[in-house]
Amino acid sequence: MSNGLKIVTIGGGSSYTPELVEGFIKRYDKLPVKELWLVDIPEGKEKLNIVGGLAKRMVDKAGIPMQIHLSLDRREAMKDADFVTTQFRVGLLDARALDERIPLKYGVIGQETNGPGGLFKGLRTIPVILDICKDMEELCPDAWLINFTNPAGMVTEAVLRYSNIKKVVGLCNVPVGMKMSVAEMLGVEGERVHIDFAGLNHMVFGLDVYMDGKKVTEQVIDLLTGGEQSGMTMKNIKDLGWEKEFIQALGILPCPYHRYYYQTSKMLEQELEAARTVGTRAEVVKKIEAELFELYQDPELDIKPPQLEQRGGAYYSDAACNLIDSIYNDKRDIQPVNVKNNGAIASIPAESAVEINCVITKEGPVPIAMGDLPVAVRGLVQQIKSFERVAAEAAVTGDYKTALLAMTINPLVPSDSVAKQILDEMLEAHKKYLPQFFKDASKDA
Ligand code: G6P
Repeated sequence: MSNGLKIVTIGGGSSYTPELVEGFIKRYDKLPVKELWLVDIPEGKEKLNIVGGLAKRMVDKAGIPMQIHLSLDRREAMKDADFVTTQFRVGLLDARALDERIPLKYGVIGQETNGPGGLFKGLRTIPVILDICKDMEELCPDAWLINFTNPAGMVTEAVLRYSNIKKVVGLCNVPVGMKMSVAEMLGVEGERVHIDFAGLNHMVFGLDVYMDGKKVTEQVIDLLTGGEQSGMTMKNIKDLGWEKEFIQALGILPCPYHRYYYQTSKMLEQELEAARTVGTRAEVVKKIEAELFELYQDPELDIKPPQLEQRGGAYYSDAACNLIDSIYNDKRDIQPVNVKNNGAIASIPAESAVEINCVITKEGPVPIAMGDLPVAVRGLVQQIKSFERVAAEAAVTGDYKTALLAMTINPLVPSDSVAKQILDEMLEAHKKYLPQFFKDASKDA
């Protein structure tokens, strides 16, 4: 670190990269990133060059000595990195569209991180992240791995269980999005709001809410359930409001992704309607991406364009850059991240990944013990954790029966036989990205 901070971003050609660059520029005084390496695969070369060009213009405009390097060679880039951030998508948006469309044929939610889609995104992603971990051990053993790649909870679980990398943190923008929505409901700045977060990624709850240190949980629950819409969602999830009495009885804040579990039939209806009309989320995002890359190509553009806000990842750069800043500067502030539970949530295994408020230190995030989750949600959270663990095992072993087990125990899948049908169709559709399931076939070929 003596020559300045080196950050390597895998999946650097993503349309989200300008967010990250903007975040590093804003914090340059305290977080002097000397080298930012944007890495991508050969198929992503064109996008990488476009995003890289914009990143360089942004840095030039800011007048800071941050070097932007573009590379198609992950190992070359990773040498002596201080932080490796991961934001890649195996199979790109076409694979996501299949994750969304195939389950819908069977009357099951088709979503990037939930249900069968979440399982398959994990099966494609986990072997790649574990390869990255091996490279890190060799090339930058002291670096932190900061993962945004979805399903972020399952990916963190897999890194904790199946790699030698200990310095890993999974990140998501959902908690910060919830905090900003609450601040908006209360009509105050985000800094005045604090939420006690605990749960799993995309399955996190706000156990208590404070404004200026005073508990306002009940007031926020009233605001959340006061109208047809809750006022709390992400760009990729329709806000269908909540049943007032249900949330009052729950007594804690659900996250936007809980809609898939507590409003399954309405969400399914909405997804089917979208698939018939505007397209699934991946299909919509493809159009947004095309527009964004069109803008990014403009040699006059030297800022992050506001159109990026159409994506679901709002505040993602704040979450990422704040985390890196706090580790680097030993800030000891509180941030919600995905880490090893270590007993912070009593009913989740100590060695599993949870999404929870942590004190962020130079040695990494230290989870703040929350006792346990309320009994009404405990079972669902444990069930999703079991799903993530079995799914991670399937991703590592390539074992068909383990994958079927993961699919069947997912609460969004109605039966063993529907699970098997979806599994078979999705395995075939994603064959190219799932070599671990087709080892024998490749031997025959
Ligand atoms: C939310 C989630 C992210 C996810 C994103 C998808 O913000 O927290 O995990 O990647 O939505 O957004 P998109 O624009 O790709 O649908």
